[in-house]
Amino acid sequence: MRRARARTCGVEGVGRYVLLRVSRAGLEPGEPGQFFMLSPPGRVLPRPMSLCLALPGELGFLLDPIGPGTRALAALEPGDELDVFGPLGNGFRLDVERPLLVGGGIGIAPLPYLAERLGVAPALLGFRSAEHAEAAALLPGAEVVVEPEYVTERLEPGYDVLACGPEPMLRAVAALAPNAQLAWEAPMACGYGACYGCAVELGGALRRLCVEGPVLAAADVAAPLAQEEAA
Ligand SMILES: Cc1cc2nc3c(=O)[nH]c(=O)nc-3n(C[C@H](O)[C@H](O)[C@H](O)COP(=O)(O)OP(=O)(O)OC[C@H]3O[C@@H](n4cnc5c(N)ncnc54)[C@H](O)[C@@H]3O)c2cc1C
Ligand code: FES
Repeated sequence: MRRARARTCGVEGVGRYVLLRVSRAGLEPGEPGQFFMLSPPGRVLPRPMSLCLALPGELGFLLDPIGPGTRALAALEPGDELDVFGPLGNGFRLDVERPLLVGGGIGIAPLPYLAERLGVAPALLGFRSAEHAEAAALLPGAEVVVEPEYVTERLEPGYDVLACGPEPMLRAVAALAPNAQLAWEAPMACGYGACYGCAVELGGALRRLCVEGPVLAAADVAAPLAQEEAA
């Protein structure tokens, strides 16, 4: 991991999302599922973003502009500079026999780089609207569902599921695919284990998602959840 001052190379709309490309500035792309802390102009804290694309000389991030930080990143212009720190956290394990990539909404962000590293892998993506679903273009050949249909309605057994998406989707995937690897989210301030801002309680144990995640085994999530429900 390292810090670098990167240059904005491009900012393009992808349906309701924005693809931000920045110069690599000596940063390694890391493993799929790892994330970078991006410092939006005018904001005190950096924001965690999964690496979406490892392009020649560039790193690509898919943004959902939902608040001041993500909107400031989406408003960057080519040539603008920003601080980037990473790669951070753990990534997806790639030693799987029958991968299936499952993404929900902005949770598709880490999947294009994951697909590139795995080689050929089917993908199942869910979005809340047809406009959001335009981002599926980043994963050519993916099966796409739009609400009210959910990805879990199309999930077949026998796959090694690698998933990223909203928490209800991840919990439903964990119940259906006990071997799944799931990329979770929590608000993060430092990104490297110092602030406990990302700590989540699972089955009574506090986990810092920035160091023990963001990718967790479904089994680790499902067992504590079962205990929580029984409590
Ligand atoms: C490991 C990791 C990877 C991520 N990758 C991406 C990515 O590739 N693309 C992307 O667009 N976003 C990603 N996110 C989420 C992104 O970091 C947040 O949406 C962003 O920090 C929000 O900042 P903001 O200032 O725009 O909005 P804020 O005003 O900070 O937040 C807007 C709303 O979202 C909630 N929120 C903020 N951050 C999170 C979070 N992490 N989890 C749940 N709720 C949150 C807030 O409580 C608030 O309700 C990732 C988060 C993590 C932890
Ligand atoms: S974000 Fe600071 S400990 Fe995880």
